[in-house]
Amino acid sequence: MLKTRPLGQTGLEITPIGLGTVKFGRNQKVNYPGTFTLPDDDQASRLLAQARELGINLIDTAPAYGTSEERLGKLLAKERHHWVISTKVGEEFADGLSTFNFTPEHLRFSIERSLRRLRSDYLDMVLVHSDGKDCDIIESYGVFAELEELKRAGLLRAYGMSTKTLEGGLLAAQHADAVMVTYNLNHRDEEAVIDKCYQLNKGVLVKKALASGHIHQTPDTPTDFVQDSMDFIFAHPGVSSAIIGTINPQHLRDNLDKALISLAPGSD
Ligand SMILES: NC(=O)c1ccc[n+]([C@@H]2O[C@H](COP(=O)([O-])OP(=O)(O)OC[C@H]3O[C@@H](n4cnc5c(N)ncnc54)[C@H](OP(=O)(O)O)[C@@H]3O)[C@@H](O)[C@H]2O)c1
Repeated sequence: MLKTRPLGQTGLEITPIGLGTVKFGRNQKVNYPGTFTLPDDDQASRLLAQARELGINLIDTAPAYGTSEERLGKLLAKERHHWVISTKVGEEFADGLSTFNFTPEHLRFSIERSLRRLRSDYLDMVLVHSDGKDCDIIESYGVFAELEELKRAGLLRAYGMSTKTLEGGLLAAQHADAVMVTYNLNHRDEEAVIDKCYQLNKGVLVKKALASGHIHQTPDTPTDFVQDSMDFIFAHPGVSSAIIGTINPQHLRDNLDKALISLAPGSD
């Protein structure tokens, strides 16, 4: 069974594996190896029940993940308090197109909408959903000042940023509660952000831990890319949780089993 751990200094206790839910709500303009059908309500509900049985308490969603927030709101309405729900602000996805808005007015609008969609009166974590210009978003829009105000008003418990650059990740580590970074066997470019967060006791959520399913397609194919990925990610003491996206029950189980092997004492 997974043990929870603190997410930096936020007071949130999260499991080292979280469930990513892009594939619960969006199958257009996504970067996965093959096409897929969105799970229906029964399938999604079974996956969430399985995740809970496996001990997972962390779920990541976003307004840009199509119907993901709304579906989670409906399916988790009776068990809201079991989950630590992380959502995002800044990116919108409609009619096959992403647009971005980081103004304080939009942040507030988006958070109030997420609360309605998720049928909750609080959000555990809100991450700024970067368009790639991380430093500009932080410095020009004052996003963290606005999120701090909304945190004080009780709408959210913690905030951070899902970054795309090393510089942006380092800046976010200084000013936010947590950073979401890409970190996998194919991509170590942002490792210094995890080092920095570890030093400052800030939370780190890893996205694309399995390179969005592309690792096994590289020439240096590891023998067991899931186990190798888990070993790699959890070898860094700064990683709070790896958010892995799946709509396949066998993969969910496999990810848990392999994370437990990597996390077992003496496994390094
Ligand atoms: N900018 C951002 O903020 C951002 C960007 C990307 C992702 N994220 C978050 O991070 C989460 C994870 O990222 P991701 O979904 O892009 O990539 P990921 O977790 O690295 O990989 C997900 C892909 O790997 C497959 N997979 C999962 N477990 C597997 C296993 N045991 N064996 C074989 N294949 C497996 C999944 O397919 P199956 O469904 O078939 O298992 C899916 O296609 C997202 O869901 C989202 O919550 C955030």
